[in-house]
Order: sequence, then structure tokens, then C-alpha cells
Amino acid sequence: FEVVWDAAAADKGGWSSFMAKEVSEEPEAVANTIRGRVHDGTVQIPELEGLDELFTGIDRIIVIACGTAAYAGMVGKYALEQWARVPVDVELAHEFRYRDPVIGPRTLVVSISQSGETMDTLMAVKFAREAGAKTLSICNTQGATIPRESDAIVYTHAGPEVAVASTKAFVAQITALYLLALHVGRVRGALDAETIAEQVRQLEAVPEKIARVLATEQEHIEQFAHWMADTRSVIFLGRHVGYPIALEGALKLKEISYIHAEGFAAGELKHGPIALIEPGQPVFVMVPSPSSSPLLHAKVVSNIQEIRARGARIIAVAEEGDAAVLPFADEVLRIPLAEPLFEPLLAVVPLHIFAMGLATAKGLDVDQPRNLAKSVTVE
Ligand code: G6P
Repeated sequence: FEVVWDAAAADKGGWSSFMAKEVSEEPEAVANTIRGRVHDGTVQIPELEGLDELFTGIDRIIVIACGTAAYAGMVGKYALEQWARVPVDVELAHEFRYRDPVIGPRTLVVSISQSGETMDTLMAVKFAREAGAKTLSICNTQGATIPRESDAIVYTHAGPEVAVASTKAFVAQITALYLLALHVGRVRGALDAETIAEQVRQLEAVPEKIARVLATEQEHIEQFAHWMADTRSVIFLGRHVGYPIALEGALKLKEISYIHAEGFAAGELKHGPIALIEPGQPVFVMVPSPSSSPLLHAKVVSNIQEIRARGARIIAVAEEGDAAVLPFADEVLRIPLAEPLFEPLLAVVPLHIFAMGLATAKGLDVDQPRNLAKSVTVE
């Protein structure tokens, strides 16, 4: 017989696709991004040594990015505001660039880009620099253009990402933003050592928890995605940090399975989206932890009841042991217990698996979706 050597398949390390491999690497992407930046409950980012002025001399942060990276930025906003007590705006790079933003030397513009080459993001960084703002780049590619154009760099260590739709880079970007938020909080005197140590402990526990989601839920979600292969539209709902995760879940589904998907803030339901609910409409709901966010949990459970009463098919992404969702959910995808800010790093994993499972069930190429490029180097 003949052995056919397929180099691309070899790079996939036995996985059916780069995306499958990259989702399986989400725990390491987080662990490797933390490594060398935390020591005994403190955060020390070597790349930011001697650059305190970037964080003390500012009164505002603007995060700019495109696509999945922008959703990581939206998650990062919650941590930056909570821990560093600096006002944060998150904006799509192409929107930021073509208006007349009020920025200057007291603005820090944080760009996020896996490739470091996205033209929209690069142009926005250059524009911010010319306007006198300080710039920091969160990037996954050593020596890329965007970090070279920035005053400071915090690299994510997700390793090379090949599949067009970003997965492991997303969790690494959130991790880097959290480390940055703790760093800025310390430098600005907004956080005490004890709080930092507690958050570091929580962050260090994330890789193992993601691994648990992969080990316990992957097969179940893939099977479920298979049953859903004929679905024409999916809605994703979330509150607080669950909101950007809902947007990311919808984006992944659009990107690789070509299904119409929308993410909404759950609180916005009654202001419009609830009109979309008709019998059988699948709705993914990011359910906050009942123990660490009881108020938000209660609000989301009541949202679930509202749409369930109108016939929605509920797929709840909920904490292990949360029984309150059981009477109303058609499917429950479980994530381990975590403090609210750490939930996105876990809740996104079932959504990545789902999008991949559904695209695979439809027989699509999950690594190379139609009309999309990994890195868009034109405006
Ligand atoms: C493209 C990709 C997306 C990615 C976005 C930003 O549109 O298809 O998956 O999220 O660019 O890419 P970046 O390299 O800047 O993170």
C-alpha cells in the first residue's frame, strides 16, 4: 500500500480541523498567557516595566479592535473599570478612525489584534498616535505591524492560530486584558494586594476549568449541534459579561455555519428582540452564577421564562448545580463555578464547540469559511 503524507493534516496533530485543534488548546492559551506574569499572587508584566506613566497619566482608555477581538475588548472593559477604576470605551477600529474622537495625551488607546496586521486596527492606532494618545497593543503575533506602531505591547501566547474564525486567541485576549487591568489597578493604587492575589488565584484556576468543559461537554454539545443542523436562525442572550459572549457566540455561528444569528443584551429583549420569538426559535442564554451574581441570575431566569412562554427553545449555558434553569431549559450546557468576571472564559467554550459542531454537521469547511480571510489587510 501507499502512505500519503499530508503536511497540513500533520500540522493538525490528528484533529479533524485546525479549529478543532485550536479549541482544544484554549486551556493552554490562557495558561501560557498568564505564565511569567504572575508571581505569588502579584501581577508583574515584564513588558510593561518602566512604563507606569502610560497608566498614571491618563483619565480614559479606549479599546479598539475588529471582529472577535472587539468582543474580547468588551469583556475587558468590565475588568478594567472594576479593577483599575478608569473609564473605558470599546469601539470598532473602523468606526473610531472615521469620526472625530476626543482624544489626547491623557487617553490610552488599547488595540487588540490576533494577527497584528488588520488594516482597520492599524490605521486606528496610527490615527490615535498622531492625535497624541498613548497606545498599547495586545497581539498574538511577535513582531507584527500593530505592536511595532504602539508604545507598549502585551503579547497573548495562544500560539499560531490557523482557522479563520478566532477561538483560542479570544480567550488569550481576555486573559491579557485581565492581567492588564490588574496591573493598571495596582499602578494607579486602585487595588490592594489582597484583592489582586484573590483575582490571580481565580485566573490561575481558569485553564483547568476550561479543560473540564471540554472533557465533560464536548461530545454532548457536538451531538446536540448535529440535531440542530437544519436550524435557520439562532438568538444568543446575555447580561453583563455574558452580553459580549452572546455576541461572540452569534458571530462564530454566522462565520462558519452561515446561519443567521444575533446576540442581544438580555435586558434589551422587551425593547425589541422579543418580537422575534416564535414557537421553536432556538435561544442560547448565558446564565450568570446564582451564587456569585444572584441578582443578575434572577433577572436572566425571568427573561428565560418570558421567552419560554412564547415558545422559544431554550439552551442554557449555566453553572454546574444551578437547578433554577432546569424547569425552563430544553438543553443545559454546564460550566464550572466561577466569579462573574471569569465566567466569559468558560461560557464561550460551549459556544465555540457548538458553532464548530453545527458547521461540521452541515458538511462545511470550518477552517476556511466562504468570503472571509484570517487577516484582513485592506481597509
Ligand atoms: C478577520 C477574521 C476574524 C477576526 C478579525 C480581527 O475578520 O476573520 O476572525 O476576529 O479579522 O482579526 P485580528 O487579527 O485583528 O484579531
